[in-house]
Amino acid sequence: MHNTSLSGISADALNALLDDAFGTDRYTRTAYLLRKGMAAIDHLSFGILDEGELMASIQCWPVRVGKADLILVGPVAVATNRQNEGLGTQLMQLMLHAATPQDAPMVMIGDPEYYGRFGFSSNDTSGWTLPGPWEPRRLLLRNSHMVALPTHGMLGPAD
Ligand SMILES: CC(C)(COP(=O)(O)OP(=O)(O)OC[C@H]1O[C@@H](n2cnc3c(N)ncnc32)[C@H](O)[C@@H]1OP(=O)(O)O)[C@@H](O)C(=O)NCCC(=O)NCCS
Repeated sequence: MHNTSLSGISADALNALLDDAFGTDRYTRTAYLLRKGMAAIDHLSFGILDEGELMASIQCWPVRVGKADLILVGPVAVATNRQNEGLGTQLMQLMLHAATPQDAPMVMIGDPEYYGRFGFSSNDTSGWTLPGPWEPRRLLLRNSHMVALPTHGMLGPAD
């Protein structure tokens, strides 16, 4: 198995993995609306290949809350037949190690029971709104450099 930048992976391979992990109706998810029209951030987006086949991926996107920059983390996808082998953990660690102090705080929509171990929590996101439905407990922030962020505001693409 080896890690690679997602920029070298075909769109077909990535879409097949995402369909497997999230289903083909994934495009209606609020996270897709949040980063609509944005290109993924190259240095924070990775794949894990096994014998040339894409088994897991992570993508990150530029978004904003009010006027403050944030990085939207996700989708984090692991092929259904390869889950619980540590690939999701490996992806999160790769991405967090690649992040620089200049990178904005990170936001994601995900299960706190899983992403809490990587420093994400919903503690400071209760005043934020999204362009689609969301569960407040699953709107997570990781602000490791304690950047000042608006307590209230709408999240959306950083265009
Ligand atoms: C969620 C996901 C990224 C985790 O990656 P993974 O490679 O399967 O998980 P890892 O091997 O890194 O970690 C396994 C551990 O995380 C736990 N875990 C996995 N998904 C979890 C979740 N959604 N909530 C809570 N715990 C979870 C497992 O129970 C296991 O716990 P243990 O270490 O105590 O045994 C992956 O399963 C996935 O792509 N799922 C499909 C998409 C999905 O359901 N996403 C929902 C979250 S956004």
